[in-house]
Amino acid sequence: MGPRLYGPEEILAAVERLAARIAADYRRKPLVLLGVLKGALCFTSDLARALAGQADGPSEILVDYICVGRYGALGTSGAKPRLIMDAGLPLTGAHIVITDAIVDDASTLRFVQALLRERQPASLRTCALFDKAARREASFEPDYAGLPVGPVFAIGYGLDYKELYRNLPYLAELREVKTV
Ligand code: IMP
Ligand code: MG
Repeated sequence: MGPRLYGPEEILAAVERLAARIAADYRRKPLVLLGVLKGALCFTSDLARALAGQADGPSEILVDYICVGRYGALGTSGAKPRLIMDAGLPLTGAHIVITDAIVDDASTLRFVQALLRERQPASLRTCALFDKAARREASFEPDYAGLPVGPVFAIGYGLDYKELYRNLPYLAELREVKTV
């Protein structure tokens, strides 16, 4: 394993900051948090709890998940996203924030965005805790972004290498893997 990028306290502080922004933007509106599995498993649950602590936020918060994978890739690039498991909630007319742990070349968030637009939500925004902005090929900015990450392969806090390390409470760099 390589160096630590962010410890648990820094991560949770960033989640709190995102929760404060989202709470202000969705004040007294019902909000659906839609986590993109599997990476967003830790982030979505921490964000949902952080939103519960906001004084004047959404009127109600529903949580759902969608599972998207990239065929044949180890999680960074080179393969098209595909839907593995759909959300269960009816999303037409809903205010939705899509949550992913990391945005890299952004094809995953673009794919989920396009899929959900077809269901005609009331509003649709994207939120990524970790932002690898330097690796973005086409222009894409998540509406809410937490912590910058360089062009490295990161593991922990939901992010895996070959399905391992998702349960680490911190984000670390995996040195052995190239991200080209
Ligand atoms: P994108 O489609 O290139 O933006 O990548 C998004 C998805 O790829 C995330 O949902 C992650 O599952 C995965 N991913 C991107 N970068 C990393 C990384 O550094 N480590 C582990 N998984 C990553
Ligand atoms: Mg992965």
